[in-house]
Amino acid sequence: MGYLTTSKKKITANTFLELKAAGEKIAMMTAYDYTTATIIDQAGIDSLLIGDSASNVMCGNDDTLPITVDEMIYHAKAVARATRHALVVCDMPFGSYQVSRDEGVRNAIRIVKESGVDAVKLEGGRDIVDTVCGIISAGIPVVGHLGLTPQSVHVFGGYGLRAKDEAEAERLMADAKALDEAGVFALVLEKVPAALAARVSHEVKAATIGIGAGNGTDGQVLVYADALGFSHDFKPKFLRRFADAQQCITDGVTQYVSCVKDSTFPNADESY
Ligand code: KIV
Repeated sequence: MGYLTTSKKKITANTFLELKAAGEKIAMMTAYDYTTATIIDQAGIDSLLIGDSASNVMCGNDDTLPITVDEMIYHAKAVARATRHALVVCDMPFGSYQVSRDEGVRNAIRIVKESGVDAVKLEGGRDIVDTVCGIISAGIPVVGHLGLTPQSVHVFGGYGLRAKDEAEAERLMADAKALDEAGVFALVLEKVPAALAARVSHEVKAATIGIGAGNGTDGQVLVYADALGFSHDFKPKFLRRFADAQQCITDGVTQYVSCVKDSTFPNADESY
């Protein structure tokens, strides 16, 4: 752990910028419920993201599109209640900010007011800058999200690498600069070439957080269920599995079933 993150003080949007300036990497992970968020926060994560990936991980949907503002608030409340140290960021779900600036600002205020999170994250570039400015003016720190933006999966036609060609890379660079000018304090870069992510990180003031974007970003984010091995099916090149929760839970459940079946649970000490 670095010198900035060893203090148990609450991490803020400003801390992200201090960490970037100090060259200390930022570790972010998703969480969607109280119990998991408590463990991850106490383990020393810098930031917890209530990603709209809750749609896939918590609800079993094929994509992030169906999750609603009410459902995001339900998950965000639980994570915010659990968190003492990490900066808590909540995704604005599909449909909650694309129609108009006013609707985006209203939904961002609702999410922060009802859940207690510290910041919101929106997908998109120059097209959403006006809304981003409105949310920041309302006093809410904003995280941007460029590259593979899963809410636009049907436009991309899949979840492949983004910004491979020069034209798309330049568009992404212009989007990053526009969001930076608008005042985002952090910028998620998902599934883009490492060289481009490093270049963006160098050229913007915001702290860049990569997922499938190489090692040149200011920090990294992973979905906790992927990083901790709750499932073995999702195996993109960028993913490293840091634990094997699926095996651990399977072993525990197998033992529990066996002890119930052979009547060794509960024993006398476990009875009243
Ligand atoms: O929803 C999510 O989990 C995300 C991360 C992958 C960055 O947006």
